[in-house]
Amino acid sequence: RSETDVASLLLAWYDRHARALPWRAPPGEPPPAPYRVWLSEVMLQQTTVAAVKPYFAEFTRRWPTVEALADAPEEEVMAAWAGLGYYSRARNLVKCARAVAERGGFPDTEAGLRALPGIGDYTAAAIAAIAFGRRAVVVDANVERVVARLFAVEEALPGARKAIRAATGAIAPAARAGDFAQAMMDLGAGVCTAREPRCPLCPLAALCAGRRTGDPARFPRKAPK
Ligand code: ADE
Repeated sequence: RSETDVASLLLAWYDRHARALPWRAPPGEPPPAPYRVWLSEVMLQQTTVAAVKPYFAEFTRRWPTVEALADAPEEEVMAAWAGLGYYSRARNLVKCARAVAERGGFPDTEAGLRALPGIGDYTAAAIAAIAFGRRAVVVDANVERVVARLFAVEEALPGARKAIRAATGAIAPAARAGDFAQAMMDLGAGVCTAREPRCPLCPLAALCAGRRTGDPARFPRKAPK
């Protein structure tokens, strides 16, 4: 692997700058339990990192394993979820925990994960990569922005999603799949931000086609409403 390819540069940056988050293992360490990855990803679907932290702490304190959550009365879980919003997530959380406990643990493939209640394409890919090290294509809004800029994708969203997914798959490494996915998220959240990208801090600046256009913030383009 070249020292100048996207994944190498990004992972070297992540080794120094990864956000320490309660559901993460430090870069290079064995991954966290799939239960913690699943719970955090479901909570993070429509909620910010800052808002999720206390809920994640409380849930893992009360229900340290997926089996414990599977045994909890639904009303208790719903009550603990109060404030996070999108309550169908909490109902599916209980359903999913029961299905996982029933089958003896989380499936370790994207397809297996996607078959569970409340787990869609994004969440299945995130769990497969982060908990099981699989080379899944993990694209949330942050990653979409990073990749649209890196390749100066001229096509507008939502049509550009297919090309962005393909480009993300092409730069994803076989090793450290979970670190790569989370490094892309962190880069989007803290450096390649929506309004004023901080290119001088970016490990990918030298490779970035969006930056070379002089106006990286115009990517990703959006179809007029
Ligand atoms: N948003 C969704 N999943 C995340 C993760 N694993 N780390 C940081 N932000 C996220």
